[in-house]
Amino acid sequence: MSEPDDELVRLALEARARAYAPYSGFRVGAAVRAADGRVWSAANVENASYGLSVCAERAAVIAAVSAGVRELSAVAVASGTSPPVTPCGMCRQTLAEFARDLPITLVNEGGERVELTLAALLPRAFVAGDLQRPRDA
Ligand code: THU
Repeated sequence: MSEPDDELVRLALEARARAYAPYSGFRVGAAVRAADGRVWSAANVENASYGLSVCAERAAVIAAVSAGVRELSAVAVASGTSPPVTPCGMCRQTLAEFARDLPITLVNEGGERVELTLAALLPRAFVAGDLQRPRDA
């Protein structure tokens, strides 16, 4: 694994330690790297109104995009399961908005790492270009 990916993994694990997950007890951290090399990390943030809970991946993307990022080059997700969890469907779609394809590193506290791509997790994603396709209505 390359040096920058190691940094992303470390940041995702550190973010996981700051998760606010008092309801599920399921702590997740995520770190995203922008195309220009800058990185952002975040944890899942739950709410007493359960449906308002925000996943770590979306929190990290929102932080990056709010700072002006429009293109992501890598993501790491840290969880406490074996094997480590993949991003949920909503987060896959959110990631797809900001990357043509994306290497994703899944990690857990035990040091397991799984490398895959967003295209493998979300084939044929709905993307901005689809809005320009010919429509019959
Ligand atoms: N969660 C994430 O943050 N990322 C994932 O990839 C899976 C699920 C969070 C949402 C919720 O706070 C908790 O994990 C249980 O679903």
